[in-house]
Amino acid sequence: MVAELYKKLDSLQREIEASAVKNTQELEQFRIRFLGSKNVFKPFFGEMRNVPNEDKRNYGQRLNELRSIAQTRFDEVQVQLKASDSGKKAHNLDLTAPGRPYQSGSRHPVSIVMNEIIEIFSRIGFVVAEEREVEDDWHNFTAMNTPENHPARDMQDTFYLQGDPNLLLRTHTSSVQARVMTTQKPPIRIIAPGRVYRNETVSARSHCQFHQVEGLYIDENVSFADMKQTLYYYAQSIYGKDVKVRLRPSYFPFTEPSAEMDVYWGLKDDNDYRITKGTGWLEILGCGMVDPQVLINCNIDPEKYSGFAFGMGIERQAMLKYRINDIRAFFENDVRFLRQFSTAGI
Ligand code: DAH
Repeated sequence: MVAELYKKLDSLQREIEASAVKNTQELEQFRIRFLGSKNVFKPFFGEMRNVPNEDKRNYGQRLNELRSIAQTRFDEVQVQLKASDSGKKAHNLDLTAPGRPYQSGSRHPVSIVMNEIIEIFSRIGFVVAEEREVEDDWHNFTAMNTPENHPARDMQDTFYLQGDPNLLLRTHTSSVQARVMTTQKPPIRIIAPGRVYRNETVSARSHCQFHQVEGLYIDENVSFADMKQTLYYYAQSIYGKDVKVRLRPSYFPFTEPSAEMDVYWGLKDDNDYRITKGTGWLEILGCGMVDPQVLINCNIDPEKYSGFAFGMGIERQAMLKYRINDIRAFFENDVRFLRQFSTAGI
């Protein structure tokens, strides 16, 4: 009787060893037959109670042995199938297929122009000064000769910080002049690029945030001629050797005399008429000799030192350079707009 059982078990072992499992379905059938909850060994375990006591031990061992043979066989085949599956995938790999395009970023047009301006002024010894955007009233206005109730404060609508009327978002980079003059000794030769804020209605031509570059040069015997030549050098560097510029008298509280510089843009098409208001000239910056009162406010002796300052808008110049006619485009971050600007340059 026991011999009969052993015979059947031997034939099951041969079946396991000879089984040619070729795919995952066949492997699953194998699993169900030999390892599943209703596997073929189950009845043999049931026979245990009919096996004479002295044979029980050997019989049990034989059953366990077969189960482990089946498990080993299953594991082996599973590994083989996985390997040949990924082998097939590797085989399908087309090494000549074109790669996926990798979209690299590009510089923002404001950064491109800002870097160009920094580079131009660095060549003649100006160093970059960076300062805070949340400024106090004194540095933004009072030190710059614009005391409270001065009509010039109306020129700029200011964002004040809630809870502290003394703090504001700087309305111009001129606040950096006061920061630098109260912490450094002349000679001072800085440019200050950065973001400024004004409470203005957003339109194609004006925005509540934009960028400026401020310049300040303080030393002994600095003259208006020095300023003119510096700004002319700048205009030639950025708009080309043949650029035509003019200085127009103007007013700023912190400079005396004050001027604005225009570049001749020309009247080639309708758009030129529109952006130059029919004159062909475009204002690009404000400038002037630092008012002696500003020097006094910052503890610099106006008898000994003089200087010039200038401030320019970056978006305005980027609009000219790239012929962009809506300032809002700079702040919308539409990638179709941003992608047009080359990553080349500085
Ligand atoms: N801060 C002025 C503005 O925002 C620009 C300016 C004009 C700056 C004359 C200067 C300057 O340094 O001298 O409109």
